[in-house]
Amino acid sequence: MPKHEFAVSPADGAMVVTGASGYIGAWIVRDCMEQGYEVRACVRDTNNPTKIQHLMQLNSLGLRGQVTLYEADLFKAGSYDEAFAGAAAVIHAGATVGFNRETPQEVYDGCFKENAHVIESVKRSGSVRRFVFTSSFAAVGHPRDQGYVFTEKDWCGDNGEAYKGRWNEEQIPLDRDIAYAMAKANTEKLIYAEAAANGGFEALAILPLHVIGPIMSANNDQPWSWQNHIKRMMQGKPYKGGREGRMLWNCVDVRDVARAHRLCVETTVGANGSRYILAAADRSGELFTWQLQQQLSVLFPATAAVGGEPMRNGMPAKASYDAPRAYCLLARQELGLQTYDLQTTLRDTVDAYRKLALLQP
Ligand SMILES: NC(=O)c1ccc[n+]([C@@H]2O[C@H](COP(=O)([O-])OP(=O)(O)OC[C@H]3O[C@@H](n4cnc5c(N)ncnc54)[C@H](OP(=O)(O)O)[C@@H]3O)[C@@H](O)[C@H]2O)c1
Repeated sequence: MPKHEFAVSPADGAMVVTGASGYIGAWIVRDCMEQGYEVRACVRDTNNPTKIQHLMQLNSLGLRGQVTLYEADLFKAGSYDEAFAGAAAVIHAGATVGFNRETPQEVYDGCFKENAHVIESVKRSGSVRRFVFTSSFAAVGHPRDQGYVFTEKDWCGDNGEAYKGRWNEEQIPLDRDIAYAMAKANTEKLIYAEAAANGGFEALAILPLHVIGPIMSANNDQPWSWQNHIKRMMQGKPYKGGREGRMLWNCVDVRDVARAHRLCVETTVGANGSRYILAAADRSGELFTWQLQQQLSVLFPATAAVGGEPMRNGMPAKASYDAPRAYCLLARQELGLQTYDLQTTLRDTVDAYRKLALLQP
């Protein structure tokens, strides 16, 4: 089958989104509805208002498509069968990412092992032509010298000796970052192989870096998420991530991440095994914490003090490690993705928090 025959449009049938209640998932649902898809949104609990209200509200916005809820859990075999039956495409954004204090082993299982259930449901559907997986830049990044620019050809685990013995499966129960990176990379390799062997569908992946941008509901303000860190900085609190708050933020807008997923479903250029880093469009989207802090202060001059990293005489107290550098060039070239500029993303992030009364004006 020539690869363009796998490309899907709204006329071909329903689009399924797993993890639909989540930060990225909810924006995928909205983007697909804007394009006229009938969207099947998979959540674990269709009766939990905090998880579904923002999705149901999308039906009253006059968008071209509609959304319907389906209940499914990664950890239960066959639980996606109903949602996937007769659907044209699946975007798999649901994962156990660790926000709910899951152990590293649970993160590994919820990001890799249990995906076998999802793949089995895709194969059983007989109708799904494109399967798009939300991987992560974690499946790409690995120890490199400062300033190294990562591309889609890179994989975590490359440059193995630089891990100093930490890159092995015994680390999974001990190290959440290793568990997460291995799980995402293993899932990618598995889905490309499964799709090639099956022949009836193609698998592609989106690999986001630091995702920020507007939240749709209070449930999307998960502690330790990047967007939550922006909120806390706007509250004047020091940034607690990175090394004592020092970090290179490589920012991408959640709406761009969402759109890139849908473009993977529709592409006539990308094919099985295509993977796209979703990171800054150019260097303007890469900032050290103190630069991000400065940008927020300029955008919101009425905010008395924006938190960030330790400063001395107006300059960072210590230098930050200049990594990870990466850009969403391939997504722009092959998928035709157009991206938000950082100022708009930052402004919309803060405005959304204020609108939901999670941040005082
Ligand atoms: N945010 C980022 O910066 C970033 C960067 C790189 C990659 N990613 C990836 O993007 C995806 C979405 O992340 P996010 O930031 O949107 O996180 P999120 O807001 O926590 O969304 C994840 C969703 O997964 C669902 N989920 C959790 N456990 C599940 C299970 N056992 N079965 C089925 N669904 C389950 C949850 O929905 P319910 O509770 O409703 O079931 C949750 O809403 C993840 O795969 C993550 O690894 C995110």
